[in-house]
Amino acid sequence: MMGLELPMRVWQAALLLLVGLVTLKLPAIYRYIRVWFTIRKLPTPPGATLFMGHAAAYSPLAKHKYEETSARSLGPLYRYRNYTSQIVVVNDPALQQEIFAAERDGAIEKPDQPNGFSKGKGRSEMNVFSEKSGDPMWKLVRKGTAPAFAAQNLRTYHHHIVDIVDRLIGGVKSKGPHTAVNIADIAQRESFDVIGKVGFGRDFQASKDIDNPVNTFQQLTDDLEESVHRLIHPWRKYSLSKEKLARDKNHESIRSIYKELVDECLNRPPSDEDANSIAGHLLRLRDSNGNPLSRERLIEEFSIFFVAGSETTGHTVAWTLWFLAQNPAALHKLEEELDVAGLLKTAHNPNPRDFTYADISKLHWLDCCIKEAMRLQPVAANSLRRLAVRDVPLSNGVVIPAGVIVELAQYSVFRNPAWGWEDPNAFKPERWEDPEEEYYTARHASAASTNGRKGSDSELEIDAAPSTAGGSKAKRMHPFGAGIRNCLGQQLAKINVPTAVAMLTREFHLTLAPQTAGKDLAELEVLKATLQPRNGIYMLCKSRS
Ligand code: HEM
Repeated sequence: MMGLELPMRVWQAALLLLVGLVTLKLPAIYRYIRVWFTIRKLPTPPGATLFMGHAAAYSPLAKHKYEETSARSLGPLYRYRNYTSQIVVVNDPALQQEIFAAERDGAIEKPDQPNGFSKGKGRSEMNVFSEKSGDPMWKLVRKGTAPAFAAQNLRTYHHHIVDIVDRLIGGVKSKGPHTAVNIADIAQRESFDVIGKVGFGRDFQASKDIDNPVNTFQQLTDDLEESVHRLIHPWRKYSLSKEKLARDKNHESIRSIYKELVDECLNRPPSDEDANSIAGHLLRLRDSNGNPLSRERLIEEFSIFFVAGSETTGHTVAWTLWFLAQNPAALHKLEEELDVAGLLKTAHNPNPRDFTYADISKLHWLDCCIKEAMRLQPVAANSLRRLAVRDVPLSNGVVIPAGVIVELAQYSVFRNPAWGWEDPNAFKPERWEDPEEEYYTARHASAASTNGRKGSDSELEIDAAPSTAGGSKAKRMHPFGAGIRNCLGQQLAKINVPTAVAMLTREFHLTLAPQTAGKDLAELEVLKATLQPRNGIYMLCKSRS
């Protein structure tokens, strides 16, 4: 009897525990079912498995291509599932605009972004990128650091960018015209040094010795890559694999660099230049109780500016130079533009004048080339992730339910003929000569429909065309994001990228080296935290003089 009673009690206890757990989780279960029920009719790509959902169907390293294929076959709105996370992907520029508007109203938020390294609740360390828009700390840091990125302010730091590129050019020159130089690597060195110097008053000297293989930005890249892996495969943080343990060590090492930098800035004697840098602004911030940011918070904020600003900028420079090297007509036009401005090194002008801040806004063709490279290879190709905190009714009748993750696609929108792009996969900088090109307008809508654009085949019969009635227009090109969470540092990027591309072009005739020549984008690119060259971009750098 005793032997039977004991298991019975165990069963009862287990049942009670189960009932308790289910009761505790009831709200979450209800939300999950509600989300699924609300979006169930949206089209979804094939290949989901019961446990992993669509995480089994695509590689995180080519997620942008998966999204592109899905958007073409499923239309402007579709859903997929990563394990238990339900995700709605928004491709339609007008619907994206509605999501950005809902974000302004507080119905859309940044999701919790577990970076896999943090303990406790599994949220990432909080900073201006990961913090919710409703949080006073986000507003404080966003507003407080914005003056550091004002054009008038950055203008006074431009000479640092010129010095850093000059230093880089010296290193490249020393290689001679027959040594292949990894342009992706040197562009990373440049952007990292620019953020260090302009933002935090520290010269990391990554661009000083371009052969030095132990570099902080490589560690940074590995760290970011690991965070993205852990975002898609959350259990990875419990793995005991050698690779994962090495990444943990790397994370600690990179954080110690930021800790050191925070302490350096806190203890440095005040200077005019520091006062207007990102660090200067962060150090002066006071919360509603008059308290400065804690040292921990400063470390997070310092780190996010390097993370958000260096890879993005460096890869944009690299992709632009890659496109130019393969498009002789576009390159020739840029050479002409630089020559007319007295900036190109030629036989008749062996010592061109220095590149200045004022040149940036005058080099129109350069701007077109950079925009076109950003359209085709937007570094933020991982899509902008949001969470619906309230139901968001869209103008096409679909409701984005509270609790669902929303992804605002970039790559697939920037290349999809459905949004009126003419010859979408071709590098055509001249398209940017038309200021309307940024927008999806009624003109583009009719061009796309006569091109036989495929609409959605969902049961909901969602109209693939956004409303363009009444001359309304939706931005179809936003490589720096849009709405209240758009890129805080874009002004710095808009100065750094043209300076680096123009100065390298005026100095060198860049041609693809055998390691890179003949490779198409599928071979060259990989999506990690950013869309970047997989194994570098190698070029021969022949001095123009
Ligand atoms: C070509 C270069 C760059 C590109 C393409 C780029 C792109 C983006 C995009 C798309 C977002 C929005 C992400 C989202 O909505 O989820 C973003 C946000 C952000 N970017 Fe950039 N970025 C670049 C350079 C920089 C630089 C140079 C800095 C600073 C040094 C910077 C700092 C930030 C910050 C702090 C945010 C978060 C803003 C917020 O959430 O309020 N970025 N960037």
